[in-house]
Amino acid sequence: MTRPIDLRSDTVTTPTPAMRKAMAEAEVGDDWYGDDPTVNRLEQRCAEITGKDEAVYVATGTMANEIAMHILVRSGHLVVCEATAHIAGVEVASAAAMSGIAFKPIRADRGQLTAETVGAAIEPDPYDVDVVDLVAVENTHQVGGGSVMPVEELRSIRKVSQEAGLPVYLDGARIFNASAASETPVHEYTAEVDALMFCLSKGLGAPIGSVLCGPADFIREARRVKILFGGAWRQAGIMAAAGLVALEDGPGRLTLDHANARALADGIALSTPAAVDPAAVETNIVFVNTRAVGVEPFEMRDRLRDAGLLVTVVANKVRMLTHRDVTAEDVGEAVRIWQGVIDGVAGGGPRR
Ligand SMILES: Cc1ncc(COP(=O)(O)O)c(C=O)c1O
Repeated sequence: MTRPIDLRSDTVTTPTPAMRKAMAEAEVGDDWYGDDPTVNRLEQRCAEITGKDEAVYVATGTMANEIAMHILVRSGHLVVCEATAHIAGVEVASAAAMSGIAFKPIRADRGQLTAETVGAAIEPDPYDVDVVDLVAVENTHQVGGGSVMPVEELRSIRKVSQEAGLPVYLDGARIFNASAASETPVHEYTAEVDALMFCLSKGLGAPIGSVLCGPADFIREARRVKILFGGAWRQAGIMAAAGLVALEDGPGRLTLDHANARALADGIALSTPAAVDPAAVETNIVFVNTRAVGVEPFEMRDRLRDAGLLVTVVANKVRMLTHRDVTAEDVGEAVRIWQGVIDGVAGGGPRR
């Protein structure tokens, strides 16, 4: 059987030959002691790119987010964020279990917070019971369909947060996608937040790893909490070597992923125009509301899988992500598979 086309996530990429070579040749040490030279080089490079004092390399984006919130938010206090943000959805139990943190979620179209909605959410509780310690934004916003927050909006959010004495944290798992789509350098975004993380293991294509960046005292504490959370990963330079390659090779090709995602949405809209809005595709994420054409998303996922196309279901929609291991030809084939499955479910004909 031919290899299925895997659009479940941009995390499914496998290391390039250049990454494997770098991994094989990586100079390593024990990261617990801070003496893995490749990890140190990666951290230094990430601090430079984001314009922050320092950076710490960790296993996952979730670990980076959880370390950051553990430091910036007191147990029993709140984080203001968008209601479908990764930290408040997928990670909500982690934040509760590891740090006693709860969320004050804001519902926002396409996941996009504004200075106005944040300003209202951080109004102090007159009874001093619900205390907000942190404002967190996600860019691009995953459940929001890979939507991009313009840097001007982030600047305004920072301003209202600063006026309230609150730090702003960026879950920038896909900040390089936001940067590519908005043609805004990453450092312009990161200048507007106190601390951030981004993932090497998503669109940039590294096999493993995320990086938390921020002021020196914050990162010093983050190194301690990383160990506390079981994240001292010894000769991690083997992975960091691939991360360094991803940082060099990854950002420049993200516009290809974005074009592929748009082509995918355009192709799907031919057979199921009511289910997808290609104009809403800003980066590498496509959501299709199959219920709009009378098909349950999990049924669609299973039928697509049987036909050789792997997708996930998120927020009751079929979710697909383009990435480095997906070519324009794969997108064409994915559209053909989609059309065939829809024809099978519907008994033929475009579904509106
Ligand atoms: C927006 C966002 N933040 C954080 C994460 C967590 O990253 P990881 O899977 O590396 O824990 C993800 C993962 O999909 C994500 O989409």
